[in-house]
Parts: sequence; C-alpha cells; structure tokens
Amino acid sequence: MDIQILDKTFVPYISAEEIQLRLKELALQMTEDFKDEECVFVGVLNGSFMFLSDLIKYYQRPCEISFVKMASYEGLQTTNEVRQLLGLDVDVTGKTVVIVEDIVDTGNTIEVLCELFNRYKIKDLKIITLFHKPEAYTKTITLDYIGFNIPDKFIVGYGLDYNKQGRNIPEVYQIK
Ligand code: HPA
Ligand code: MG
Repeated sequence: MDIQILDKTFVPYISAEEIQLRLKELALQMTEDFKDEECVFVGVLNGSFMFLSDLIKYYQRPCEISFVKMASYEGLQTTNEVRQLLGLDVDVTGKTVVIVEDIVDTGNTIEVLCELFNRYKIKDLKIITLFHKPEAYTKTITLDYIGFNIPDKFIVGYGLDYNKQGRNIPEVYQIK
C-alpha cells in the first residue's frame, strides 16, 4: 500500500524480509573477508543507524562499532567549506575501518569521508553501503559492498528520511 509522508506519496519498494536476507549475505561475506583483520565498523549518522545495528548482528567476528556525523561549516574564506568528523571515539590506528553508509548517490560524502579517514594511520579502508545509485555516481572510489543497486529515484524508510521523516519505517518505499 502507498504511504504519504508530508507532501509526497511513496510506493512499496524493498520489503523488510528482502533487506534482512541481503544483510545476512553481506555480513557473511565480510565475516569471510575480514578473518585476519581487526575491524572497526563506523556508521555515518543519521541514515545508517538501522542498517548498522541489523547488519552487525549477522557478523560473526569480534569487532568495534562507532558512529560519526559529518559536520560542515564555512572556513575562513567563505568559499571553502570545511568538513569534519564528529564523534569518532575509538582508536583506529592499525585497524581496518569499514565505513557504513545508508546510501551513496553522487559520492560527494563518501569522498570526503575517505579523505578524513585516510588522515589516520589505519591499515585499510572499506566501504559498505546499503543502497547505491550508479547513475548518479560521479566518483571513482570503489564501493566494496553494496546492498542494492537502485535507479536514481528518491527512496525513504529503513533509516533514510524525506525531510527528516520516515526513518523508522522498517521497509523501503520509492517516490511515486
Ligand atoms: N532518499 C533519502 N536520502 C537520500 C537519498 C534518497 O533517495 N539519496 C541521498 N540521500
Ligand atoms: Mg537525508
């Protein structure tokens, strides 16, 4: 059934069951891939809170979990925007950092995140995103794990918002 959020109508797109099945696959793959790694999973707030909390239940190795928020403010020259990582409360030195994103579209955010994390003395940097819009992607950075490749249409639910609303919906809806 369609749902209404603020002024927009959305249609059912990916069910809660489909999401969980895919999360199990991704987590199992990572469990294999990271057998020799010391991993820190870093969720990018707000969108990834539900994804990371579900995903990590299927991951079968010891790991650390943290969340960050991207903050941006105008630098001294008003033209340059300075971006900062807020809330990273674990020592990432020598560890494999896995950035956990809800969605990667243009890739602007992920590019900045990679640059910020590469300032630390980490062993390796990996990216997992639940959703990816290949048609909108303008970067060359490899996305190591992708939940679902989707068309460039607006989605909401499972952590993703439309004007701050809809993050609590357990499945994903697409704009009508
Ligand atoms: N939905 C919600 N948030 C987003 C999207 C989307 O489709 N793309 C980038 N941020
Ligand atoms: Mg948003």
